[in-house]
Amino acid sequence: MAEYWSTLDVDLHLAVDPASGRRVGLEQALREAIRDGRLAAGTRLPSTRTLAAELGLARGTVSAAYDQLVAEGHLVAVRGSGTHVADLGSRVGAPLRPSAAGAASAAEPAGSERPWTQPLGLNLRPGSPDLSFFPRAAWLRAARRALNAAPNNAFGYGDPRGRIELRQALAEYLGRARGVRTDPERIVIVSGAVQGLALLAQVLGGAVAMENPYIPLFHEVVRTHGAEVVPLPVDEDGARVDLLSRRAFDGVDTVVVTPSHQYPIGSTLHPARRQALVEWAREGRRLVVEDDYDGEFRYDRQPVGALQGMAPDRTVYLGTASKTLGPGIRLAWMALPEHLVGPLTEAKRHADHQTESLGQLTLAEFIASHDYDRQVRAARLRYRRRRDLLAERLHPRAGRPAAGFALGGIAAGLHALVRLEPAGMTEAEVLRRAAESDLDLEGLGDLWHTSPTNTHASSAARPQGIVVGFGSPTEAAYPRALDALVRTLSWR
Ligand SMILES: Cc1ncc(COP(=O)(O)O)c(C=O)c1O
Repeated sequence: MAEYWSTLDVDLHLAVDPASGRRVGLEQALREAIRDGRLAAGTRLPSTRTLAAELGLARGTVSAAYDQLVAEGHLVAVRGSGTHVADLGSRVGAPLRPSAAGAASAAEPAGSERPWTQPLGLNLRPGSPDLSFFPRAAWLRAARRALNAAPNNAFGYGDPRGRIELRQALAEYLGRARGVRTDPERIVIVSGAVQGLALLAQVLGGAVAMENPYIPLFHEVVRTHGAEVVPLPVDEDGARVDLLSRRAFDGVDTVVVTPSHQYPIGSTLHPARRQALVEWAREGRRLVVEDDYDGEFRYDRQPVGALQGMAPDRTVYLGTASKTLGPGIRLAWMALPEHLVGPLTEAKRHADHQTESLGQLTLAEFIASHDYDRQVRAARLRYRRRRDLLAERLHPRAGRPAAGFALGGIAAGLHALVRLEPAGMTEAEVLRRAAESDLDLEGLGDLWHTSPTNTHASSAARPQGIVVGFGSPTEAAYPRALDALVRTLSWR
């Protein structure tokens, strides 16, 4: 064990284990110092040049160690002010789901959940793209152009629907890339799909059928904004549209679906069901809300166009930048039927007047310059490779069939469902084993609809599974996360 004293901004004893290699050893030493509080939140680390000189290491080694710890969330790199120790107690930016690596956090009382806490170890929790892939340079260029060109009114109160520049760029992009039939006057920009759903629930009220499983937060948001949620089962062909004619769905006038890639099961809505859903909406003058959260990411074929294109007058198309760029952007959009534009615009005005303008103008530039297309194409390639690797690792060819689990869903998006077969490990067992390897995963069990009065209804009949967010880790961390997943799923 090589021991170093580094002065950083403060004196620090770093025990670098040479057996792990210099970079990994330095990473471990810094990680431990941060975790056990010897390096306090906010402490500024020396430049890579200084630390390399102090420790007698190559500068590239120190810089790679910093990058890794930034990617893990232990350090924060602030342009112009160096690298600092992150505040592990208050980090933000994780997915929309509660942090529940296994039974431990499931047992926590609801009020103590911290859904925004980033996992410290390996992260295969779904809900986020690879944040290190955010196109910083191109975004900065777009922001500069946008700011230079922005009229003075960009800094004032504006149209609650959002900036016209972004609505124009989106109308063109969505028509071209997703087959959405709309125009800038019928688009409303919102701060995330979650706000879109909240506003819709507020405006529409009544009973809303929502896929089950789905994101529990979305069920909750719709319920707390004045609508009743009626869970709609899903299967390998997507939402069970056939059930909408059953008694349980009497009075339901709105249905929220993820037709391109059901979250989290991973199926796509069967063409016959798409047709039936459109007919259901037309005949009763009802509404379909299409959550197209990852529609750009299809790997086995060309993406299927949005359902909205089949019935623009009966469908609300809900898109988001959360998967293509990053959830921190907080930009999403609704393409509305004519009759909903007025009420939704009013609801948006009452909620927060309008979404922040500079981000909207930047995104407008980013789309108009086709940087958005380039980013989506590059991301598609990256995530496709990751999905292929996941499939390869979970179904090894060499005569060793996978035991106890199967990869479900289509080759798309940033997540895949690993179905656990009854003969194999249970979900709780897999999550416990994952937690032992410091691997953060999401169990399918967390994503079923719960009502305030009956939180465990028919849980016995539910299939068991693990939702693997192969989009979440950095490129560097993905192979290690995958190794940990394979170890976790390997039958004892
Ligand atoms: C199914 C689904 N819909 C929508 C979103 C995006 O939500 P938002 O735009 O509020 O970030 C996500 C993000 O994880 C998602 O998983």
